[in-house]
Amino acid sequence: MSDPLALARPEIRALAAHDQASSHPHFERLHANELPWRTATDCSDAGLNRYPEPHPEHLGALLAALYGVDPRCALPCRGSDEAIDLLVRGFCAAGRDAVVICPPTFGMYAVAAQIQGAEVVSIPLREEAGFEPDVEAIEARCGLGDVKLVFLCTPNNPTGNLLDRAAVTRIAQATAGSALTVIDEAYVEFAGTDSWVQWIARLPHVVVLRTLSKAYGLAGARIGTLLADPRIVNLLRKLVPPYAIAQPSIEAAQRALDAHQQRLARERIAAIVHERARLGAALAASPCVTRVWPSDANFLLVEFDDPARALARLRDARLHVRDFSDRPGLRKALRITVGSAEQNDRLIGSLAC
Ligand SMILES: Cc1ncc(COP(=O)(O)O)c(C=O)c1O
Repeated sequence: MSDPLALARPEIRALAAHDQASSHPHFERLHANELPWRTATDCSDAGLNRYPEPHPEHLGALLAALYGVDPRCALPCRGSDEAIDLLVRGFCAAGRDAVVICPPTFGMYAVAAQIQGAEVVSIPLREEAGFEPDVEAIEARCGLGDVKLVFLCTPNNPTGNLLDRAAVTRIAQATAGSALTVIDEAYVEFAGTDSWVQWIARLPHVVVLRTLSKAYGLAGARIGTLLADPRIVNLLRKLVPPYAIAQPSIEAAQRALDAHQQRLARERIAAIVHERARLGAALAASPCVTRVWPSDANFLLVEFDDPARALARLRDARLHVRDFSDRPGLRKALRITVGSAEQNDRLIGSLAC
């Protein structure tokens, strides 16, 4: 099996891991230049006068258990946004390497690549095939040798569809030895399908991204997870500053992952999936809607006869949705997050023609 680190930037491979302060939980902390007192506003368990763990191992183990991998395969990050950034910085040399993205898709893949100076190769999803990836074009472009990362988002944002499993499998197999295939599953909990995470044991160049921002309702805590071969995890950890994840976020994630909270999370996911069907059916019946795309996520991509008029009505009802109507391939489309039953009722009512 090929070594995925052969694809990484040589200067990052050569970097030494940070020298971490050793931890002695039962000793008085006089080693980190912290204040000895907590402030009156401090409601954390551990004390905000103290630095958090340099790399939160307990949280990493909880996330690994949640996603069903060995703890060595899980790197907690500040949202999956940070995971995307780490991958681009670790694997793409400025001016030399490229990433493949499949638009319309999540914008941060291209942003991270542009900041790093990597070329962004756009191979659009095939709208006529229900927004599926163009496998032949991706294989052909990866064959040129400069592509280091292929980003696939499933369910895809903003189109909402799960990518065809056979297509993802072909891309993952075709990139072995030349690029990492990064499968972003930010919305997979709403799809009720298996994660791709078990593939990382079989194909060490497959990376899976998960987040607590969506189904677990912790967007404000900024906790994502990069799941990959331990060699990739160790390489990318070298790029993360110590103490990167704030103590209140660590504690919020730990609380969210106890058995009771996980049960509640499953109930909330079921409620959103139920509302997705109800909202989708109501929108499809609206005379100003020309198409509701099928969705496996917590949002709907909706095509309107007159998106500007729909946006004005939604604005009048103080409802904020995302306008994609100027994007290639998304003619006249708005992306609408599935909200609470009350919010969805308001949205449906505001569009009544
Ligand atoms: C597909 C996709 N990936 C990643 C993210 C970033 O999520 P996080 O909050 O974990 O940074 C988003 C956020 O909207 C997203 O839509």
